[in-house]
Amino acid sequence: MCGIVGYIGSKKIGNRLIEGLKRLEYRGYDSSGLAILDQTMLKSVKRIGRVNCLEEALPEKILEANVGICHTRWATHGAVTEENAHPHVSSDEKFALVHNGVIENYLSIKKFLESEGYKFVSETDSESIVNLIAYHYKKQDTNNKSNRFLESVRKSLLHVEGTFGIAVLSQDHPGQLVCAKRGSPLIIGVGKNEHLIASDVNALTHCTHQVVYLNDNEIVHLNADDFSISTIGNSSVNAVIQTVDWDTTAAKIGDYHHFMEKEIFEQPIALTNGMRGRFSNDSSTALFGGLNISEDELSQIDRIIFLSCGTGWHACLIAEYLIERYARIPVEVEYASEFRYRNAPLDKNSLIVAISQSGETIDTLSALKEAKRKGYKTLSINNSVGSSIARECDGGIYQHAGPEIGVASTKAFTSQLMLCGMLALYLGRMRNLSYSDGCKIVEAFKSLPKLIQETLSVKDQIKLIAKEYADYEDCLFLGRQLMFPIALEGALKLKEISYIHAEGYPAAEMKHGPIALISESCPSVFLTTSGEMFAKTLANIKEVKARKGKVICIASEDCEIPEDSIDSLIKVPIAHEIISPIVMSIPVQLLSYYIAIERKCDVDKPRNLAKSVTVE
Ligand code: F6R
Repeated sequence: MCGIVGYIGSKKIGNRLIEGLKRLEYRGYDSSGLAILDQTMLKSVKRIGRVNCLEEALPEKILEANVGICHTRWATHGAVTEENAHPHVSSDEKFALVHNGVIENYLSIKKFLESEGYKFVSETDSESIVNLIAYHYKKQDTNNKSNRFLESVRKSLLHVEGTFGIAVLSQDHPGQLVCAKRGSPLIIGVGKNEHLIASDVNALTHCTHQVVYLNDNEIVHLNADDFSISTIGNSSVNAVIQTVDWDTTAAKIGDYHHFMEKEIFEQPIALTNGMRGRFSNDSSTALFGGLNISEDELSQIDRIIFLSCGTGWHACLIAEYLIERYARIPVEVEYASEFRYRNAPLDKNSLIVAISQSGETIDTLSALKEAKRKGYKTLSINNSVGSSIARECDGGIYQHAGPEIGVASTKAFTSQLMLCGMLALYLGRMRNLSYSDGCKIVEAFKSLPKLIQETLSVKDQIKLIAKEYADYEDCLFLGRQLMFPIALEGALKLKEISYIHAEGYPAAEMKHGPIALISESCPSVFLTTSGEMFAKTLANIKEVKARKGKVICIASEDCEIPEDSIDSLIKVPIAHEIISPIVMSIPVQLLSYYIAIERKCDVDKPRNLAKSVTVE
């Protein structure tokens, strides 16, 4: 987690660093800090709280510097205090460092350095690196001053285990910046007489659209006019400069109160963008340009393993239902963090598909690397062009949903559901799915943006329901078949932004334990369409009512639900089953959003969370 930005160039760091840091706040927002070189003096300022607390504390003089590094933190090692906030300064005060990642052997490094007289003032793992750099710097040949800085960082990193994206300033080398990465993302921004470094491309695009994505175990030596990349093992690397096509206006809040609200309401556009150009001319199947797997290879696949975390994992469950139903290919869904260490036996013709909005989730990235190491083909469904996961996979499907800033995923989730459905269609048409069924499904996808627009009109009704239910502290979400993953997602959304304890279950599973929770103080949200599961879901609703549980029912328009079975009814448009989870996601998102507003929660930056989870 955490965000890093660094600047070196002819301009003042002022807006360049602070604007970049604000754009990274979604990565972590419990504290932040900045360090600069003023003549040959390192100066740093740190503050607990959001980036604006840091901004208010920065003296004008600091903002006039031409080189600096800054950081926004999501605490891993040590509480949220100014001592633990970055940048960390070495105990000889010669180096300042910002770090994203986790140093696994920091205790042994710290012990060694303490025996050498280095003092530690924080509880962080990161401070061990900056002191290690100071140690190696001191040990080096003083005649080779310009490389001494770079070489001491390189030497230190040879001893470091774990993940890092770092940027380092040296008091003795005011015109230089050294950065390196392993496991955590780091990107160079190449400007005119200036260079930037950041953990996310979004933190660079206010200055430049020319970027270099660093690979693991690379180290960069930057000054205002130039930079060079080598490996930590000291082999030189050719930089590949790419142009990012990034619409920065898409990341602006406009007239909305929150990014989450904006992202919920822009779903019709996000979905339209994700399906554009992705249907065959005869409108009977989907097309994907970037799979990099031949149709021949795909038709040999006899098992698909989907990997993801959190909301993306719920999208995987929908993929499982849809691909098994329409393409008849067995699918397994794995938490990426578990798959990585489970050493699951896989057949030769297994395909791995990772789903990740950010493309940077370390658990998913590591699981993918593990699958690749074993020789499996890997794909991703991903919303972040050029992200680590996109670059790691053999091929993939970009979501084109636009940047998602609200920490709780909304439009990225529905776009993943849509692409999973389109993948099911594509694989199905390569097997037994008929032309006419294919055409009906394509028609359903094409009608989706309009249907979602219609569904969004339930917002006023949901606002009223939210007022009624905002004070409860527990809630169940229940649904069957395709509605089950949406129940899980509803529970996740509610708990992450309103801090209400919520759980999702297959509705029938309720009888096997969760029913013990049902009471007047634990409402249930049921999700149902009129399909084959309707009567059974209705029976489950009655079981809840019989135990005095309040019921909010979200149902498609054609469901006939006896009034005395429920307390609140939210009707959504009738939809083809392949898109019904997407339609059903809308009221679930709105419910959690409006309840969080009633509870005066910080919707876009919920406590303890961060948008991009780059630590294991
Ligand atoms: C919840 C949410 C998270 C993410 C998870 C994976 O609203 O957004 O559960 O889905 O952290 O993130 P990505 O998709 O970026 O890999």
